[in-house]
Amino acid sequence: MADDGKPAPLSVALDQLRLSRWPTPARITVSLFVAMLGFGYLGALGNLYHRHELADGQPGLTDNDLKAHFHGITVDVEDDASDVVAMSRMLEKVVPGASMRKHLTAGDEADVRTLIAWLEQGAQASTFQTESLVQEGDPSAEDVIAGRCLRCHNADDGEKADTPYGPDIFTVEQDMVYRYAKPGTAVDTIADADAMPGRKKIGPQTLAQLFLVTHIHMLSIPVFTLILAGLFALTGWSTRWKTIIGPLPMIAIAVDFAGWWLARSSEMFLPLLLIAGPVFGLSLAMQIFAVLGSLWFGSKDANRD
Ligand code: HEC
Repeated sequence: MADDGKPAPLSVALDQLRLSRWPTPARITVSLFVAMLGFGYLGALGNLYHRHELADGQPGLTDNDLKAHFHGITVDVEDDASDVVAMSRMLEKVVPGASMRKHLTAGDEADVRTLIAWLEQGAQASTFQTESLVQEGDPSAEDVIAGRCLRCHNADDGEKADTPYGPDIFTVEQDMVYRYAKPGTAVDTIADADAMPGRKKIGPQTLAQLFLVTHIHMLSIPVFTLILAGLFALTGWSTRWKTIIGPLPMIAIAVDFAGWWLARSSEMFLPLLLIAGPVFGLSLAMQIFAVLGSLWFGSKDANRD
């Protein structure tokens, strides 16, 4: 019983289970596990950057991208590109969350930015075969459609032969493409009642997309966060530090998830995301290094600290 003044049994047990006392094979396994968590997290950051930097239409990841993605923004459209105002059938099908997006992202980042940029610029015939439309070395919009879409969207034997971009699987035809790429041909897009000329609304992500990422993330991240927190409890760090840093990643990730949903209705909640992300990353990193340190350099001595 803890109330008779004796040390709490849990802390004694934790002490005996200290990572530094684990046999070498276990220490190797745990080291690799936490190292992979660390690299996995870095990979997630890279993915985050590349997926969202263009959310607001501008390169570089800013809080505006976050806002576009989770809440939606209205942006000014460049003067001469009045064609941008109206979405095309093709564009609405390849924006994040739309049904053809996955075929586009099956290629690389260059495919995505090329087709989107070409469509947003009004699907001009003059730039259809232009390479390096956005960045040096990018393919042309024609190449992207040939590589990513023609397989199904061809009149000859495609799965979607009724909406073809070319007569057969080898040939893209600008005229055919233009039927779907023409600005103003969108049909699914939620009719934007208060759309103003010269402005367009970007985002937020579709509800379907939000459900998808929510369940994937919510059923996976807390699992390794919990395992890591458990390992961290077995380091030689003082109880005070364990109390502060131990629960931090789990709290941060819970706040982050809540923010995704709350920010949809009010941008007031966007700061939650801006704070939770870094707090999660930093506390996770601290726990990883603490675990590695304790595994290999920790004192085996049962006396605390
Ligand atoms: C694996 C086959 C397949 C590929 C590859 C594919 N699509 Fe589709 N596409 C379909 C099917 C099936 C539908 C009908 C279902 C739907 O609308 O989601 C469709 C529908 C569409 C529509 C709506 C057509 C209409 O009825 O108005 C557009 C636009 C479209 N796709 C564009 C694209 C673009 C752009 C690409 C390449 C980035 C692409 N698709 C790649 C199979 C494909």
